[in-house]
Amino acid sequence: MPVPDQHDFATNDFAGAALHRSLALLRAQGPVMPARFGGRPAVLISSHRALAEAFRDNERFPPADAYRITIEPVQGVTFQTMEGEQHRLYRRLATPAFQSRAVEAMEQEGLAQIAHELIDRLGKQRSADFASAFTHRVAFAVISRMLGIPSDREDLFRDWAVGFLEFPRDPARSRHCAEQITRYLLPILAERRREPRDDILSGLVMAEIDGRQLADDEILAHIRLLFSAGASTTTDALGNLIYTLLVQPERWQAVLAQPQLRANAIEELLRFETPVAVLPRLSAAEAVEFHGTRIPASTFCLFAIAAANRDPTVFTQPDRFDMHRDSSRKLLSFGPGPRLCPGMHLARRQLAVALDVVLERLPGLSLRDPEAAVPRGAILRGPVALPVRW
Ligand code: HEM
Repeated sequence: MPVPDQHDFATNDFAGAALHRSLALLRAQGPVMPARFGGRPAVLISSHRALAEAFRDNERFPPADAYRITIEPVQGVTFQTMEGEQHRLYRRLATPAFQSRAVEAMEQEGLAQIAHELIDRLGKQRSADFASAFTHRVAFAVISRMLGIPSDREDLFRDWAVGFLEFPRDPARSRHCAEQITRYLLPILAERRREPRDDILSGLVMAEIDGRQLADDEILAHIRLLFSAGASTTTDALGNLIYTLLVQPERWQAVLAQPQLRANAIEELLRFETPVAVLPRLSAAEAVEFHGTRIPASTFCLFAIAAANRDPTVFTQPDRFDMHRDSSRKLLSFGPGPRLCPGMHLARRQLAVALDVVLERLPGLSLRDPEAAVPRGAILRGPVALPVRW
């Protein structure tokens, strides 16, 4: 079946409602439909039932293969690019560090401090691009502080982290930035080996399972993984949250007046405008059958989380942003199954604390140019700019 060009999920802008319209059309035709990914033929899995099944089926849809192409060449080997028992072992070894005391301390005081500092920097301004001033900074600052990077180096470190994430679009810049991160962290890593502290690096240095510990290059790869998996995702979620609440000012007024609505507003945002809207996987090395479709060997399978999150057989009036809806149990936004996002607790806390601080400090926030602020993209989806005034 010929696939229209507007369905290339690697390259299309999919501004605002365009993504949801395309996904709804595909979902209405069937749970597994032909699509394109970077000019290559792909299939898109869009129904909630089929996608929940695909996430848990690591035989037909082995998770590591796509990451080996899209990120491993600069990130290095991490549990994200491993399968089966090895994935489980390394995940157990490396993820407690994301949930260590450093993360707890960060949740209790650090998150609010970062948000306040960024708003302090706005000084007497009454308008700004809130993406470059705030939403594009919070998540990078959180990871930097959990690593123990001195705050005067935070902006530089953020530039390297953003540059490293340019892979595969700009491999030379990406490699250069990854090297800068390594050069910066190696002496700190040696220090933590001598004198461990309460931070993520020390957690990774000391982690041990069955007598196995992580070597320096493995630790560095897992730090890069924190940025690739944890920074842009949360950045886009925060941008989508601020946009979605401001684009209809009565939503902003509701969360301002009723703090008890905020947790649900965040869950609803994760359903309604999730930052990992489409997640590319590669199918198994041999052709597979799935929901009546034969998928050729090693085909890009686009896990359309944003489509499943708006599946009308699961969510009533799915295109409505409803802060009273209870959707958490059915959300596919953090990828159910053995790859369930280990950073989801931290992500939710970041969104909650950042929203509280913005509402407290800038209650009169409004969009200056709603068109310029719409979420864009499919693989990672968020506003590029957020022109606001207050
Ligand atoms: C709203 C923000 C976030 C969203 C929507 C999100 C979403 C996801 C999804 C969908 C997966 C599954 C990927 C797959 O099946 O291949 C995943 C995995 C992962 N996430 Fe998140 N994530 C977020 C924030 C974070 C944060 C803050 C961290 C770390 C601090 C993080 C670390 C990871 C890691 C390490 C994995 C790989 C797990 C594995 O392969 O076993 N994420 N995330």
